[in-house]
Amino acid sequence: MPDVTTGDHYFTAEPTTAAAPREVEFSAAGRDWTLASAGGVFSAARLDPGTGVLLRKADLPSAATSGALLDLGCGFGPITCVLASCAPSATVWAVDVNARARELTAANAVRVGVADRVRVHAPDEVPDDVAFAQIWSNPPIRIGKAELHELLGRWLPRLAPAGVGWLVVARHLGGDSLQRWLVDQGWQVGRQASQKGYRVLRVTR
Ligand SMILES: C[S@@+](CC[C@H](N)C(=O)[O-])C[C@H]1O[C@@H](n2cnc3c(N)ncnc32)[C@H](O)[C@@H]1O
Repeated sequence: MPDVTTGDHYFTAEPTTAAAPREVEFSAAGRDWTLASAGGVFSAARLDPGTGVLLRKADLPSAATSGALLDLGCGFGPITCVLASCAPSATVWAVDVNARARELTAANAVRVGVADRVRVHAPDEVPDDVAFAQIWSNPPIRIGKAELHELLGRWLPRLAPAGVGWLVVARHLGGDSLQRWLVDQGWQVGRQASQKGYRVLRVTR
């Protein structure tokens, strides 16, 4: 829902909604996290339940994981922080159109001690030659179906040949039709898990 006073959406590039700093606490990957959040970003008050399902059900990277990982639509950075902490030999690229989300992700990467391995950028700033070993996303369904397809059509082809994409989508927001669309585009798509109305999709070539 857009902010009723400013009209901002969570994907607004430069939110004018009051920054209203806050903290979000959650558990994932066997530990507790406290990250900075603020108004004008997605799920500013709590870890989004879909993101929680994704972090519980997908195969998190490990110390053996190397290369570049992408958090597509990083928000305030919960996925980025978990990935970078789980995979000390990998680099996490955190991408978002929302400038405040990028600032928060960068600050949270410092906070959890992974800033040296996190690159936070607007989408057009990511160099074309980076191929991703893993792409993680709780994608921005609210931008609309055509825009969502364009977004995934832009980034999924940047998976390395043996790369894996992990997506979480609420069933009532089109999780099943997104799975069909991905298959139609030639991707191998497995339903890794289904929990609390969310689908966790595993996408490979
Ligand atoms: C559903 S939210 C998920 C945020 C965060 N990963 C989390 O789990 O809390 C999707 C994010 O995608 C961002 N977004 C929207 N359009 C985008 C685009 N074209 N490229 C990159 N990010 C985009 C939004 O600003 C938002 O932060």
